[in-house]
Amino acid sequence: MKDNINLNNAKIEISATNKKQYPKSLPLGEIVLVGKSNIGKSSFINSMLNRKKLARTSSEPGKTRQINFYNIDDMFYFVDLPGYGYSKMSKKDQLESGKYIEEYLEESKDISLIILLIDIRHNPTNDDIHMYNYILSKNIPFIILCNKADKIAKTKVEAKKDEIKKILGISYSTIYEYSSIKKEYVEPTWKNIFNIIKDVEK
Ligand code: GTP
Ligand code: MG
Repeated sequence: MKDNINLNNAKIEISATNKKQYPKSLPLGEIVLVGKSNIGKSSFINSMLNRKKLARTSSEPGKTRQINFYNIDDMFYFVDLPGYGYSKMSKKDQLESGKYIEEYLEESKDISLIILLIDIRHNPTNDDIHMYNYILSKNIPFIILCNKADKIAKTKVEAKKDEIKKILGISYSTIYEYSSIKKEYVEPTWKNIFNIIKDVEK
């Protein structure tokens, strides 16, 4: 299916701050990136599309403040959400980011897949666990990607994933490693994504 979609045809559709601005529906819906601030949501989008600067990234947490819809060949959107759990952000900004995330997840009728990014090096945070349980409660297809896999030895990847699975209480396998830097994870991740969204006709 992916071969029929031109992944090079990607552009920002809108940076939304409220639900009235959410764009028109596309056939394969919306693939949403969620995860703590600085985990690499925006970098994920760039790496999957082989673009350097489509989504804005930063080594400073809190870069993405709005809900950015990236239109991929008029077939689906990547939706880049603000991150959660950035304690250095002012209370007001944290509340505002939280409000955007919550409103989007509650209001969008077009989510076809949620991608939850977790740091492969660390145990999931309380916010990660909270988000995971929320996703489960929504009954929306999801995958978990353990990002920054380039930061640990290859031999440690399976054990780290197992630890994360245990903490989240996952027994089946919807959890994979990823790295925005290493291209080797891009193709298998597309395969996983399309396996899930191919059945969704919005
Ligand atoms: P917010 O917009 O603040 O929520 O952050 P984000 O989740 O969009 O993170 P972003 O993509 O801006 O990346 C944050 C930092 O992590 C940047 O310095 C990236 O280069 C780095 N980064 C992202 N993914 C990876 C990865 O897989 N490996 C490594 N080593 N660094 C990564
Ligand atoms: Mg971002």
